[in-house]
Amino acid sequence: MGLTDASSGGGGGGWPADAAVLRREAEPTHCAPPMPARISAGEQRLIEDPQLLGDIAEVVGGPFHVLFPERVAVNVTAFQAAFLAAGVDGFVYFGKKANKAACVARACAENGAGIDVASTGELVAALAQGVRGEDLMVTGPAKSDQLLWLAARHRALIAIDALDELDRLTELGLPARILLRVLPDGSTSRFGLDPVELEQAVQTVAADGPITLSGFSFHLSGYDAMARAELAVALVGHCLRARADGHPADTISIGGGFGVDYLDADAWARFQDDLSESWFHADPPTGGYYPYHFPVPGADMLSAVLTHNDLAGLLRDNGIRLAVEPGRALLDRAGSSVFRVQGVKTRTAQGEPYDILTVDGTSLSLSEQWFASEYLPDPVLWPPRSGHPTPTCVGATTCLESDLLSGRRIPLPRRARVGDLLIYPNTAGYQMDSNESPFHELPLPPKIVLRADGDRLRWNMDAR
Ligand SMILES: Cc1ncc(COP(=O)(O)O)c(C=O)c1O
Repeated sequence: MGLTDASSGGGGGGWPADAAVLRREAEPTHCAPPMPARISAGEQRLIEDPQLLGDIAEVVGGPFHVLFPERVAVNVTAFQAAFLAAGVDGFVYFGKKANKAACVARACAENGAGIDVASTGELVAALAQGVRGEDLMVTGPAKSDQLLWLAARHRALIAIDALDELDRLTELGLPARILLRVLPDGSTSRFGLDPVELEQAVQTVAADGPITLSGFSFHLSGYDAMARAELAVALVGHCLRARADGHPADTISIGGGFGVDYLDADAWARFQDDLSESWFHADPPTGGYYPYHFPVPGADMLSAVLTHNDLAGLLRDNGIRLAVEPGRALLDRAGSSVFRVQGVKTRTAQGEPYDILTVDGTSLSLSEQWFASEYLPDPVLWPPRSGHPTPTCVGATTCLESDLLSGRRIPLPRRARVGDLLIYPNTAGYQMDSNESPFHELPLPPKIVLRADGDRLRWNMDAR
């Protein structure tokens, strides 16, 4: 079995059976319901391996992240297949901000995807993994002169966010390929050019000058396929008008924001319907939650965008290439974060006992907590052993009260012990490293790359 076989969902690591048992029993009111993560065959295999996780934990001696680049390849290929099925000339740029691992950039290079970078560090890291300059998209606001210069030197596509940025690029006097990032009508975003600025930018670029106006772009927050399809139509209109002024304008980018389906519909509905303050060790999060159940995720969402009002036909008829910049969706089920239980305490809430763990590492390595939210797919307790379901919340190792990986009480299938591992599944998209800091002089968790080799899993340290 390879790592590329995606499970059809429904959790793993013993969770579905445990969850079913829990549902049958009278559930304690001070505990959240089970939320087993959908996991990949690779994650399943790692959890089921009786030794490997323990061996890696011993070598690393602290928390670590694991990555499955073969799963990134599967996700990239699914986006490319959606373009192919719709008969659209499309190109995938991985939104690099979602994960820094070198093996992810490498998987993009090896599978015909480019990378969307937003800093010189990201640009250099992408080149170092074999992504060609012409396959880079450079986004982000008010890019530094150094980033603009490097991007132009490498013939990257630069998404211009402001008129003064365009001026600075022009002053470099280098040939450059640009998209103009559009501020959507009615949006309060700080990014993009409003209609007056957009018109001025088109006029600024001389049709026979060193800067090539390749087209237009946007990135929307939220996960609405229809909104993206409709704004794409407006961008095609911008291209046609720019062509009339002599510009090639043959590309549009609809940014990222392709959803990920972390939880099944029942678990997510139950969480939302029954959500209660009584589930939490301290105050519940105030920042809302990611839509953890997302019925038309990733490449299927791209297909939905392409079919809406026959966007695919419009792109074909006008010879327009569609770029996408998915970050999170290309990392779906491509990695997990592993912490070691360092301490176990018992507390009571509403007269009922629960455990509070301290794990090594910090919640900076599970970023969702730092957006006044919480990462909902349940961690898997390893190794599997028999025991009684135990409401458990998970604290981390710093001196901050707020440093909790899971503030809600999770129905772990047994009591955790010192030395056990807690595996947070599906964390490659934004959870791992966007907020990590060496607070308390704790080392940053290394990234471990896992690959299938026949009936074995092989591992090595990521290149960074
Ligand atoms: C310009 C741009 N493109 C792509 C992305 C990636 O978004 P996602 O990871 O939701 O696909 C982002 C995220 O902030 C972005 O700002």
